[in-house]
Amino acid sequence: MTQQIIVSGMRPTGKLHLGHYLGVIQNWVDLQNKYDSYFFVADWHALTTKYDKTEELKQDVIEVAMDWLAAGINPEVATIYVQSHIPEIAELNIYLGMATPQNWVERDPTLKDMAKILRTKEGQNSQISYGLMGYPVLMSADIMMMNADAVPVGIDQVAHIEITRDIARRFNNIYNTDFFKEPKPLLNKCSLICGLDGNKMGKSFHNDIKISDTEEVTAKKIMTAITDRSRMRKTDLGHPDECEVAFKYWQIFGTEEEISNVRKECEAGERGCADCKRQLGCKINEKLSQVRERRRYYESHTDEVMDILKEGDKKARQRAGQVLEQVRNLVRMY
Ligand code: TRP
Repeated sequence: MTQQIIVSGMRPTGKLHLGHYLGVIQNWVDLQNKYDSYFFVADWHALTTKYDKTEELKQDVIEVAMDWLAAGINPEVATIYVQSHIPEIAELNIYLGMATPQNWVERDPTLKDMAKILRTKEGQNSQISYGLMGYPVLMSADIMMMNADAVPVGIDQVAHIEITRDIARRFNNIYNTDFFKEPKPLLNKCSLICGLDGNKMGKSFHNDIKISDTEEVTAKKIMTAITDRSRMRKTDLGHPDECEVAFKYWQIFGTEEEISNVRKECEAGERGCADCKRQLGCKINEKLSQVRERRRYYESHTDEVMDILKEGDKKARQRAGQVLEQVRNLVRMY
């Protein structure tokens, strides 16, 4: 039986953090052996909000690819590529754009959020570009380019996938075909990790731990993690369930036994927060050691990374070319 196809992408925001790793990439790593998987760096999507800040774009694409490889995306089984290297996506985007009613994109809640963030960052007068309005159509082109069955994403992206399903259905109706599948969202099993300050982990919040951070940097950052705010001295009885960050991290990275030990010692006032976090830092470094070793390997073998991406571009273009040929026929282009 042929495998079902999945497609997913990530905007090149630079070095990735543990939120990406635990929330998204680990999920891809599990899925890559069960599906014919296409994972791409969405550099055109990065332009929708940062078309005027492209100095680091190229490097950011490579950083993301290295983080994926380090995290265990296997280029022998999954196809990893760069969106802007697949011109077929741009052509499909044109056909889909024609068939998409304007109010569908205007309704997209995720887009509304992005517009809001843009306004707070760049001031009230910042314009929403035509390209940003087209975000959900371009995303549909990414997905439909491979005529995918499913799209592994976080909950925040589900509205976009709904539009993709609508566009696929509408295309099929207009051109009297059942060629395009209506791709389903495959929700990430999220082990959501909060940032060191207890808020959502994010690069711009300066509360993240990067996949590529050294052990020293990780250990230092962990020491800033918020704990049980009511606790002043080591001998005060602790409340692990009110520990805002450190105990949550233990629950993600520790074994059952370690977690219950930490809980017991904390509640009994036998474990100070500083010691606790020192141990936690070691634990997290231990968990990430293999990933980081691979990261260092790719950092010193960037040629290999480029070759992997080139190979992925080729495979992605093969599939994209087949789909586009059908689309051109269906639309009856000359
Ligand atoms: N919008 C996605 C994000 O911000 C990135 C993305 C672009 C994507 N194209 C996609 C995800 C296609 C899945 C499928 O995370």
